[in-house]
Amino acid sequence: MNKLLIRGGVRLAGEVSISGAKNAALPIMCAALLSTAPLRLANVPHLRDVTTLLSLLGGMGVAVSLDAKLGLELDAGKLHTPVAPYELVRTMRASILVLGPLLARCGEARVSLPGGCAIGQRPVDLHIKGLQAMGADIHVEHGYIIARAKRLKGARIFTDLVTVTGTENLMMAACLAEGTSVIENAAREPEVVDLANCLKAMGAKIEGAGSDTITIEGVSALSGAAHRIMPDRIETGTFLVAAAATGGSVRLRNTSSGILEAVLDKLREAGARITVESDSIALEMDGTPQSVSLRTAPYPAFPTDMQAQFMALDCIARGTAVLTETIFENRFMHALELQRLGANIEISGNTAVVKGAAKLDGASVMATDLRASASLVIAGLVATGETVVERIYHLDRGYECIEEKLSQLGARIKRIG
Ligand code: UD1
Repeated sequence: MNKLLIRGGVRLAGEVSISGAKNAALPIMCAALLSTAPLRLANVPHLRDVTTLLSLLGGMGVAVSLDAKLGLELDAGKLHTPVAPYELVRTMRASILVLGPLLARCGEARVSLPGGCAIGQRPVDLHIKGLQAMGADIHVEHGYIIARAKRLKGARIFTDLVTVTGTENLMMAACLAEGTSVIENAAREPEVVDLANCLKAMGAKIEGAGSDTITIEGVSALSGAAHRIMPDRIETGTFLVAAAATGGSVRLRNTSSGILEAVLDKLREAGARITVESDSIALEMDGTPQSVSLRTAPYPAFPTDMQAQFMALDCIARGTAVLTETIFENRFMHALELQRLGANIEISGNTAVVKGAAKLDGASVMATDLRASASLVIAGLVATGETVVERIYHLDRGYECIEEKLSQLGARIKRIG
């Protein structure tokens, strides 16, 4: 099983390019299911989750092709099997995103209950309730969600919690429903907006994406379109934190500052100097960072997907930080591994108190989920001596060429068998 070997203590410096956003690419690829005409996508990241979704879509009859510029074309004209099997869904929770489009296009869907990161219960009840409100008949049988609807009907849906993929699933389903749907308490994440922009290019009538009320007027069919996936704000944030933790100086290209204000604010609080241009962000950090406290919450507040990386930074910062996780109930698993490197962290319920230590010492650590893996890599970059991060298949789900990009910034990091 692949591991990463990191020799810490190098200040990151230089430039790298940020990839397309995983969390935008996955729902947008599922949007191809809504049309009989091809959807052409640019800036799709090369990630394990993307490959998993391509296998899933391929099994349903979606034709997949890559053009010379590595653009992806998805043609669901000959869609024949509206089924998402357990073997693929269990490795990636986002597979649930096929449910809404399949039901809207085919009138039926059979989707395994999802797995994905082990960061809490992560039910899909709100996806199901929303589709039921649109007239779907849904039950769970032998671990599969079985959904049927002749044609979905527009409805007013209020989700009890803000759910990102829930909002996306319902928005996609509503595009082909009869009449108008309103999603209240909708997720405002930039990836929801990117999906809405792609759907609009396909002919959908959507208003309010990016606010907490999204209105969708159903149409009878969607066309093909071309769309460029937005930059990955979590990859951007991860590289910025890595640079700040190592006292480095980096410039990230092909990204945007407007999609990660809460993260940039926290980096400034840590003492980093940040310069933004239209499609790049530069960060400079002199000396040891100040510790930063944070509380995760839905966009535009601080993202849960950046909590683990900031915990790594706080481990070597000056002062004490309090990190509160409000989205997922089991998202501090990286803390135990960081402690193996000498970090001083106390967990009580959904709060972690991190006392900055003068240094971390390299050791073997185990990645437990996607963003936890990123925090262990950051810790390895600042630790003295060698750190081995095991189970990096989690990292490959969401970071494109992470070791190549970090090496480009001067890190001593390599993949070992
Ligand atoms: C998405 C992101 C993930 C990010 C998360 C929160 C994708 C592919 N993944 O995950 O990277 O960490 O948003 O920003 O975009 N919930 C329910 N019932 C539901 C749905 C959700 O109780 O039907 C709860 C979840 O358990 C969680 C909270 O709502 O506590 C938010 O989850 P949600 O926004 O749905 O996360 P995902 O969309 O799975």
